[in-house]
Amino acid sequence: MISKQAKEHIDIWVAKYPAGCQSSAVMEALKIVQAENENRLSADVIQAVADYLEMPGIAAQEVATFYENYNHKPVGKHTIRFCHNISCMLNGADDLIAYLEEKLGVKTGQVTENGLVNVKKVECLGACVGAPMFQIGDQYYENLTQQKIDEIVDNLK
Ligand code: FES
Repeated sequence: MISKQAKEHIDIWVAKYPAGCQSSAVMEALKIVQAENENRLSADVIQAVADYLEMPGIAAQEVATFYENYNHKPVGKHTIRFCHNISCMLNGADDLIAYLEEKLGVKTGQVTENGLVNVKKVECLGACVGAPMFQIGDQYYENLTQQKIDEIVDNLK
């Protein structure tokens, strides 16, 4: 259920913590495994992560369902996590989110017909100085404009 490559990647994170504290890597482990499971986590996958990290399944489940980073239903290949918190809102995030929804033909929370993209509104991602901004995968895109959004989104494959 967890690939050899994913385990090797998880092991890098486990090694950052003291011996016996491997469960501290659960957030990264869930992220890694989610990436190789069509960008979502099933209950079985969460349990597999818990087993690999030798922690109770319920503890991994609590993490997986508390944070917005994890998906539990099909969400498409790319999730655009658009910040709509105060700095981004004051710098036009709401208008840009509406523009993006119009461009993609979906509302926030929906997946495009081709299964490529979904848009999520999220709270502050800690990049207020670059507001308005969104995140795709590990990459932050800041000081967004309609033109920048076109360039970024049109290059998603
Ligand atoms: S308010 Fe958008 S990154 Fe902080």
